[in-house]
Amino acid sequence: MAAVGPARNTWQPLQQTCTRSLQRMGKKLPFSSFQFGNIEVNSVLVAAPMDGISDSAFRCILRRQGAALCYTEFINAQDVLNHSILFRRKLAAVREEEHPIGFQVYDADPNAVVAAAQKLTRFKPDFIDINIGCSVARVANRGAGAGLLLEPEKIAEIFDRLTNTLSIPITAKIRLGWDESHSNYLEISHLIETHGGAMIAVHGRTRQQGFQGKANWDAIREIKKEISIPVIGNGDVKRVDDIHAMLAETRCDGIMIGRAAIANPWLFSMRDRHEIANAEVYALIQEQLAMMIADYEEEPALLLFRKFINHYLTPLHLDRSQKTALFDHRTAKSLLRAIEELLDL
Ligand SMILES: Cc1cc2nc3c(=O)[nH]c(=O)nc-3n(C[C@H](O)[C@H](O)[C@H](O)COP(=O)(O)O)c2cc1C
Repeated sequence: MAAVGPARNTWQPLQQTCTRSLQRMGKKLPFSSFQFGNIEVNSVLVAAPMDGISDSAFRCILRRQGAALCYTEFINAQDVLNHSILFRRKLAAVREEEHPIGFQVYDADPNAVVAAAQKLTRFKPDFIDINIGCSVARVANRGAGAGLLLEPEKIAEIFDRLTNTLSIPITAKIRLGWDESHSNYLEISHLIETHGGAMIAVHGRTRQQGFQGKANWDAIREIKKEISIPVIGNGDVKRVDDIHAMLAETRCDGIMIGRAAIANPWLFSMRDRHEIANAEVYALIQEQLAMMIADYEEEPALLLFRKFINHYLTPLHLDRSQKTALFDHRTAKSLLRAIEELLDL
């Protein structure tokens, strides 16, 4: 397994390059920076952790577009402690350009979370993030992820123990509560701050909502008003206008973008999907696929890349047979040739 490189601040030149190219495009940048712990974040744009999506290749794509901060997909503490293959796959290829990066851990048992986080420092994460928001039943119903929202004393214990033993910042990603009648986000946010947490990302929904309804940005604003560590707002940022709107409405320090980034990685360079020329779409596909092949080898990479093709090619409105044909390619070369044709290049 390739260990994470020790490089620090290699992302700063990258961010500057990105800033310059955006400025050349005449884009207005919401690039006020913020700091948590010893980490300076040079833009407000943060890439959300997404299990099955945010691997190293995708994180690099988003960083190159302008994401100032990223996280690994969530990592089951038990997998870390049991040396599971899943854990190794998730960490196998963190590239230097991904720093600063947070490794996200989840479990219901504070002992496991603490031991796993301590073990993960071997891979030189810039920060450790505790998942207090996953709503998936197999996670939340056993008390992990959003399940922890029902047991604040466990959250306090995790933050106490980690902030007392590790020198890197410990952060949290939370939801607003278990359900509407247990919307304890203010209590949880205060508790995380009091027990040494360095930053909180808030997905503005309860566990019960899953991904339904509209994210509650008012709650994010309330949290921002109440605590003094940085707050990252998250939920339903789909277009450039939403970035400006969330910043204005919540006054939060950063904007975390998840699902919209799958369809439009260019959102991190403040561009909506219709602004992207086909040649640029093709270049990004080539770039991501090459990194995935380096990480997984060709056949697995092609399988994993299926998740992205549909999204990247959404404006083409491909029919079912065209999509199936794309999925049938067995080499990157033939897939790329087919995409080139579809994009009329
Ligand atoms: C496929 C998928 C996987 C996700 N995996 C994670 C995860 O590993 N850790 C986490 O904290 N949140 C995870 N989330 C939640 C996102 O980080 C984010 O909070 C949520 O999608 C709302 O933001 P959005 O409206 O910008 O998508 C996931 C979401 C999706 C759609």
